[in-house]
Parts: sequence; structure tokens; C-alpha cells
Amino acid sequence: MYPDAILSAFQLHFGTTPDFLVRAPGRINLIGEHTDYNEGFVLPAAIDRAMWFAARPRHDKHLQAVAHDLGKHFSCDLDRITPVKGWPDYLLGVFSELQNAGLPTGGLDLVFGGDIPIGAGLSSSAALESGLLLLLNACFDLGLSRIELARLARNAENNFVGAQCGIMDMYASLFGKAGHALFLDCRSLEAREIPLHLPACSLVLCDTGVQHALAESPFNRRRAECEAGAKAMADLFPEVKNLRDARPEMLTAVKDRLSPLVFQRCRYVLEENKRVEWATQLLAEGRLEDFGALLYASHDGLQQQFEVSCAELDFLVDLTRGDAAVLGARMMGGGFGGCTLNLVAGAEQANFQRRMQTAYRKAWGRDLPSWAVSVSNGAECTLL
Ligand code: GLA
Repeated sequence: MYPDAILSAFQLHFGTTPDFLVRAPGRINLIGEHTDYNEGFVLPAAIDRAMWFAARPRHDKHLQAVAHDLGKHFSCDLDRITPVKGWPDYLLGVFSELQNAGLPTGGLDLVFGGDIPIGAGLSSSAALESGLLLLLNACFDLGLSRIELARLARNAENNFVGAQCGIMDMYASLFGKAGHALFLDCRSLEAREIPLHLPACSLVLCDTGVQHALAESPFNRRRAECEAGAKAMADLFPEVKNLRDARPEMLTAVKDRLSPLVFQRCRYVLEENKRVEWATQLLAEGRLEDFGALLYASHDGLQQQFEVSCAELDFLVDLTRGDAAVLGARMMGGGFGGCTLNLVAGAEQANFQRRMQTAYRKAWGRDLPSWAVSVSNGAECTLL
């Protein structure tokens, strides 16, 4: 269906053919949750679900955007951008960041849409921002590198949409490589491509159907708690610029100065960073059972220490514990809903999906969409 649906919708709305076609994928994250905005480590990968864009520059300063899947339009004068508290903000944030960087663009006719489920923790919003930036970079010859695009996309989300997320999602959408995960250092923004050899295993997502919206969830509060912990450590240990620099003994040294909650949040982040390094090594050595155990440990930390899980996510992860077909499972992404990620013996995949669906329906009275993901290349822009 994609990209054909987007190309024909463009023709239908604008009565002409587009000049550019862009694909920007969603992402999974194998491990390393809530570590990116603490300048730590993450292990994401781009997936085979994407946001597609068909576009053509305009001679004026107007944006005419069509959200194909929502069946909605939006238009505005790009010289007068203000948030509208809805989907156009993901687009407007990008134009606004470019203007702040002294790179104003011309107008644009745009149709976008795709098959990344919204609010499922697969970064549809980062794909929207990253894809639009890649498009504008080509359309208006901005000469920006992909790293600059990732930073601008993150800033759009932070400054305009209001979610204080890190850079992982945009980075994965822009830099993903088929068959590889990215071991990303969120401080240096250097990544190592880690081959994903998962012989006889599938990565299966189970979507709780509980939608999260980062800007409204306690996400921003978690970030503030991490920063409070880092600040308390910096008073004693000036080398601590943020949690990335903290070691367990530093955290212990300031325990009395922190609320128990902030202490617990920080301890989770320190442990999760270690798990990402360890998991990357286990993957390289093909030790998938041990890798799976780390997925469970990550979930436990997110559930109990960082407290960003929810009852449906915990239910799904708990169902897999002791299931011989499952090597590991955890909630994925920002939390408060979205998907679990499951490492499943390939031959058992269909049975696993059936078992999960039956149990979820019984407990929660609704279906459990689930599917195996494959790991794809990052965003691409084609001149038509
Ligand atoms: C969301 C944010 C990311 C990251 C994850 C949690 O997906 O957008 O930057 O913080 O949550 O790991």
C-alpha cells in the first residue's frame, strides 16, 4: 500500500506529481531505556514500518499538509508559526527549529502517512520529524548532515511539542542499518553497528493498545528526577555533568541528600547503562539466553525502580516468564503503554502469538496486535 497510497493522494490533493519521496522508519530499542537523555547508551534499530512523505516545494511561504491516515489537512503561513496542540505541531516544530537555526525554508505541499502505529512506542513522531527534515534538507538544499538533522528533530520535539525526550528515536530513524542494531553513545553521538545474528529467533512486538503521549505522561518528570540526582552528585563530584558520569559509589555517597525516589531513579539509569554495554557484548558472542535475561532485568528496573510501566505491559511480560519459547521480554520505549518486545524461538512464533492473544483477550477484553519486526535501513529521500 505504501508508498503508492501517498503518491496517489498527493496527485489527488494537489493535481500534480510530487518532486520528492521520503521514507523514515520507526524503531525498536533492544535495551537502554531512559538512558538517552542522561547521555548514556542505547541499542535501537530501525524497523520495516515507516512514515512516507510525498512533497513539492511551493513558490510562496505556505505549508499545505495532508495527514493521509487521519484524513486531515492543515495549512498555514510559515512566517507565522504557533503550536496548535495537535499533529501539525510535529511538522511546525521542524520548520520552527530550522528558522531558529537561521535556515528558513520556502513553502511546501506535503502528503504523509504510514504504517507505524501511533502511540505504540515505535517512534512515529520521531519518524515524522526526521523524515520531514530529510525532505526539507533535499528540497531546499540546506546542506545539513544527518547528525544535524537528528539534533534538529530532537529539538523540535523538546522545544515545540514539549516532550523532553532524548535523541535515540531520531538517530535510529536516520541512521538505521538493515540487519543491525546501533550501539549509540548519546553523548558523543557515535554509534557502532552491531550485527543482529538471531539464529532461529524472532523479535516480536505485542501492542497493549494503551496509548501514551510523551508530553502528557510523567516522562518529563522522570527526566527532571534524573537531573536532580545528577545535580546532587555534582556538588560532591564536580566531574558529574549528568548521570552518564555517575558511578554507583557516588550515588551511595549522596544517598542522604536525595529523596528515596530520586535515588531509585538514578540507580536504575546507572544499572541500565551497564546492561546496554553487557547486552551488546552478549549479542556479539551469540549468547542469546543471557541477552534475554537482561531484557527481563531491564523490564524489572523500568517497572519497579523507574516506574514507567503499566499493568498491561507487566501482564504481558509476566506471561512470558517461564515460557520455553521466549528468551526474554520487556516493555519498550518511554513506557506508560505501547508495546512489549519479545525474543521468541522462531519455530514457536505463531503459537506464541496465539497464546498471548488468548490470554490478553481474557484478561483485558481486547485484542492484542502482535507481529515480528525486521530491522531495516534508515531514512531515504528520492528525487522523483
Ligand atoms: C521515548 C523518547 C526517547 C527515550 C525513550 C525511553 O521513546 O522519545 O528519547 O527517552 O522514550 O528510552
